[in-house]
Amino acid sequence: MAQLWGGRFTKETDQLVYNFNASITFDRKFYRQDMEGSMAHVKMLAAAGILTEEERDLILEGITGILRDVENGTLEISDKYEDIHSFVEATLIDRIGDAGKKLHTGRSRNDQVALDMKLYTRDELMEIKGQLESLIRTCHQLMKDHIHTAMPGFTHLQKAQPLTLAHHIGAYMEMFKRDHGRLKDVYERMNYCPLGSGALAGTTYPLDREMTSSLLGFYGPTLNSMDSVSDRDYVIELLSALSIIMMHLSRFCEEIIIWNSNEYGFIEIDDAYSTGSSIMPQKKNPDIAELVRGKTGRVYGALNSMLTTMKGLPLAYNKDMQEDKELTFDAYDTVKGCLALFNGMLSTISFKKDVMEQSAKKGFTNATDVADYLVNHGIPFRDAHSIVGRLVLYCIERQVSLDDLSLEEYRSICPVIDEDIYEAISIKTCIEKRNTIGAPGPDAIRKVIGINEEWLADLK
Ligand code: ARG
Repeated sequence: MAQLWGGRFTKETDQLVYNFNASITFDRKFYRQDMEGSMAHVKMLAAAGILTEEERDLILEGITGILRDVENGTLEISDKYEDIHSFVEATLIDRIGDAGKKLHTGRSRNDQVALDMKLYTRDELMEIKGQLESLIRTCHQLMKDHIHTAMPGFTHLQKAQPLTLAHHIGAYMEMFKRDHGRLKDVYERMNYCPLGSGALAGTTYPLDREMTSSLLGFYGPTLNSMDSVSDRDYVIELLSALSIIMMHLSRFCEEIIIWNSNEYGFIEIDDAYSTGSSIMPQKKNPDIAELVRGKTGRVYGALNSMLTTMKGLPLAYNKDMQEDKELTFDAYDTVKGCLALFNGMLSTISFKKDVMEQSAKKGFTNATDVADYLVNHGIPFRDAHSIVGRLVLYCIERQVSLDDLSLEEYRSICPVIDEDIYEAISIKTCIEKRNTIGAPGPDAIRKVIGINEEWLADLK
């Protein structure tokens, strides 16, 4: 057992208590952020005249050495320490002696862990934002490639109206752009530095919180020391944004699974992103899409867990807050894994354009366009709707589509119909006529692609 406290205790901690209380097995994950925070703290202590420059240099050199040795594998973060903070401090004292004992001057583990968690979360957020940008680029490319790839659009999973793959992918593009905006919002709100808040009530040392804050890339110091040590809103906000990303990925995966099914056959998932069956040799399964859909539950679980952990806590720090780490870290890793795999899978899918177009032609997807044709010939829409209903019934009884009817058959039900009906309801016309902004028509889609192009250019 290696603890930072013990002076006021007369008995050893029970081993089970020690194990239950320790966090080293999971907070080792932010060893780098812990040391970055300590280095900024020490620089500030020296600038404020609380440490000498020699002490500062000794400590900085010591921490740099520890960081280097951890990263090159020569120093193990051993479980015998209570947490990552104890590991760094004890190793430092071991290596540089008494100067190391001054590292924790004007600091508590409460503001230290608040900082570490924030630095780690900020790093993860930036990485996830970058991955999301790659996925958005993949969607952008697919939109450009498939402006004319026809497919059926569905409501209630029933064929509704024809549209294009560019339009379908464009829907996810909008979701992912909103997700990106949410990540940026979380960053803007969270980027204030809690270091210098002490245990809960600040410190009596003349700490320069502006300095540590700017050394660590924050907008400024947080404004209330009690809130600083007990705020995990930003974790909850990020988990919420990540849950929404997972919900979007999961919906997309569900569609990929449907498109990949034998019945639909719209796509072929690349061999590199598919798996086989141990018994059925013919199988090629969409396991990656299913796993991403499945892992969504873990991320929702982390969000629910954090909301529940925080809900009853009086100010300020309570040990319950140590529970912020394991599930949250798991959620960050899960989202990163899912984004990487999903992007790889999506960018290598081959789309079977013929099957998609044939499917778009079936299921009376142009029925609305027949009604629109009648409206253009002076029939009120409600009457047109009913006439086309009769035409569809007529087709169903004969197992044909609207395009297959002869002009005589059309006219027997509605005399205003002319030869130009065939062109008016062809799949090409159905798609190309829909050109209001947001619709699947090629002109509308090109406009949106242009807007997205600017959105992407603004990222740099
Ligand atoms: N391992 C602790 C945590 O993650 C560090 C803070 C400990 N502070 C305390 N007052 N016991 O929350």
